[in-house]
Amino acid sequence: MSQRKLVVKLENVWKVYRTGRVGTIALRNVNLDISKGEFIAVVGPSGSGKTTLINIIAGLDKPSKGRVWVLGRDLGNLDEDELSRFRRGKIGFIFQQFHLIGRLTALENVEIPLMAMGLPPKEKREVALKLLREVGLGDRADHKPFELSGGEQQRVAIARALAANPELILADEPTGNLDSKTAHSVISLLKNVCRSRRVTVVLVTHNHELLKYAGRIAWLKDGEVIKVEWVA
Ligand SMILES: Nc1ncnc2c1ncn2[C@@H]1O[C@H](COP(=O)(O)OP(=O)(O)O)[C@@H](O)[C@H]1O
Ligand SMILES: [Mg+2]
Repeated sequence: MSQRKLVVKLENVWKVYRTGRVGTIALRNVNLDISKGEFIAVVGPSGSGKTTLINIIAGLDKPSKGRVWVLGRDLGNLDEDELSRFRRGKIGFIFQQFHLIGRLTALENVEIPLMAMGLPPKEKREVALKLLREVGLGDRADHKPFELSGGEQQRVAIARALAANPELILADEPTGNLDSKTAHSVISLLKNVCRSRRVTVVLVTHNHELLKYAGRIAWLKDGEVIKVEWVA
C-alpha cells in the first residue's frame, strides 16, 4: 500500500441545485481521492459539474449529501469564517478571467495576498518580485494588466495564487481565454510549479491537448465521474 498523503477526499458527494420546482443534479455520488503533489485534470463537457466540483473542494459551495475533507479537515465542520481563513491560507485560485486588478501593476497584484499576511512593505515587494521571476515575468513587474498579453496576465495570476504558499491550487478553465500555444506554456508552468513546490493542482479544462500535463484525469459526465485514469 502506498502511504500517499491525501489532500482531498470526496465521499459520496451529491449536489442538487433547486430553482423553483426544478432540481438540477450537478454532482452524482462523486468519490475522489487526490494525493499530495498530484496534478489532476478534471475534464468533461460544459454543464458536467466541473465548476461545482471545484467550488465544493474550495468550500465555496456545500454538498447536498456526502462528505468532503481537504488537507485533513472535514469541511462540513467549519463555519464560514473558518472556511474563508482556510481558503486564504491554503488554497490558490486561478480563473479563466485572470481577475487581476486593472489599476495595479503586476507586482502590486501579487502583493495583495501578502498584505493579509502582514509582511513589511520592503519584504512584501521582494517576495512578490521573486514570485514574478518564478513565473518568468521578472521584467514585467511595473506593467499594468492592459500592458500584458493574456498569457502574461495568467502568469501574474499564478504568481498571485502562489503568494500565500498554498498547498492546493484550484484552476478552473485557466486557459479558456488563451490561444493554444500560450495555453501549453501556462499549463506547463503550472506543472513545473506543482513539481518544484510539491503543491497539489486540480486543473479543470475541456482542452484535451492539455491532458498530457496531468498525472491523472477524472472524466465527468452529467455530474458523474465516469472514469479516472493515470496518464502514461
Ligand atoms: N447556482 C446554480 N443554480 C442552479 N443550477 C446550477 C448552479 N450552478 C450550476 N448549476 C447547474 O449545474 C450543472 C453543472 O454546472 P457547472 O458545475 O457549472 O458545470 P461545468 O463547470 O462543467 O460547465 C449545470 O447543469 C448548471 O446549469
Ligand atoms: Mg465551469
